[in-house]
Amino acid sequence: MSIDALLKPFVSAKLTLKNRVLMAPMTRQFSPDGVPGANVVDYYRRRAEGDVGLIITEGTTVNHKAASFDSKIPNFYSDEALAGWSKVVEAVHQAGGKIAPQLWHIGCARKPGTGPFPDYPSATPSGLALPGKPVGEPLTHDEIADIVQAFADAAGNAKRIGFDAIEIHGAHGYLVDNFLWEGLNQREDKYGGSRTKRSQFAVEIVQAIRAQVGEDFPIIFRFSQWKQQDYNARLANTPDELLEVLKPISDAGVDIFHCSTRRFWEPEFAGSDLNLAGWTKKLLNKPTITVGSVSLNEEFISTFMGGEAKSVDISELLKRLEAEEFDLVAVGRALIANPDWVKLMQTGKPGALKTYDKSILAELV
Ligand SMILES: Cc1cc2nc3c(=O)[nH]c(=O)nc-3n(C[C@H](O)[C@H](O)[C@H](O)COP(=O)(O)O)c2cc1C
Repeated sequence: MSIDALLKPFVSAKLTLKNRVLMAPMTRQFSPDGVPGANVVDYYRRRAEGDVGLIITEGTTVNHKAASFDSKIPNFYSDEALAGWSKVVEAVHQAGGKIAPQLWHIGCARKPGTGPFPDYPSATPSGLALPGKPVGEPLTHDEIADIVQAFADAAGNAKRIGFDAIEIHGAHGYLVDNFLWEGLNQREDKYGGSRTKRSQFAVEIVQAIRAQVGEDFPIIFRFSQWKQQDYNARLANTPDELLEVLKPISDAGVDIFHCSTRRFWEPEFAGSDLNLAGWTKKLLNKPTITVGSVSLNEEFISTFMGGEAKSVDISELLKRLEAEEFDLVAVGRALIANPDWVKLMQTGKPGALKTYDKSILAELV
């Protein structure tokens, strides 16, 4: 099987990558006091040495007291953490790779009493932890402005310490996505009431980041239909609705959309084979990243529950990539289990890939 489509360089106005393979962002809790240390440097260096085109880091939290649920999740604002991240960047670059931090605020997914500031209330658009389940007060306009600024500061720091791009975590039921999703956003001000208004928070984050990093620095926006709180939740039921959600965010200055699905081969809307990344590319005419069970036979939530995911061939993925349905491919668990995934694919030895199971999570090496 030729994997040439995956090995072809990606060339765009702001970002050039040696191939089409990205490492998907995957949370790790190995950074005591939020500071990434030598083990984190080694972890990412191994994937860069394995020829991953662009590494997107684990979610790393912006400077807001309710952004994290665990102080071992690395932050992206303290001097110590940024010094640790600089070493990660240096190691990845030395190994010939590129890297973007995933900037994260966990929003309603933070249980009150957790994280580095346990007494601080959780941050949500409408005071809901789940649809119909109150957790506190809605964010005020001042608080929203502070969080927007925290994203912008983080992006400015990313550029300053040498990262190649940033990714905004706008997916999976965390803060940015909480605003996008009607189930948790019941606001009646400029941040809620219609799809376009629910996108306003994301728009302000993208605009503030753009103002901070300038025109030439790549901004990636990750979003999903599904939420960890509800796998069947949807932001959009039709392509037109998807455009309503994404067009304002795109116009605010996003360069690449990272379209998170659990299985990349699933059609997004009836009447077409296109997946979410395929539709997003078609609607916005911007590069997109696909993700979800690449080279694996089980999606990732089931493997959290203890299931195994075995390696399978990637001909369907290659067919879609060759057809330019999307531009880039993010690989998650298969890259945890196999830092040299690209090389194993390249040398035609996919049979040598390690199975992914929950025990690998304990090490995340
Ligand atoms: C251990 C683990 C941690 C994850 N953490 C994040 C995260 O911090 N941010 C994010 O956007 N997605 C996260 N995800 C989702 C992955 O980025 C990816 O979308 C998902 O694993 C599907 O890709 P895969 O089937 O290739 O593993 C995580 C997944 C796993 C397995």
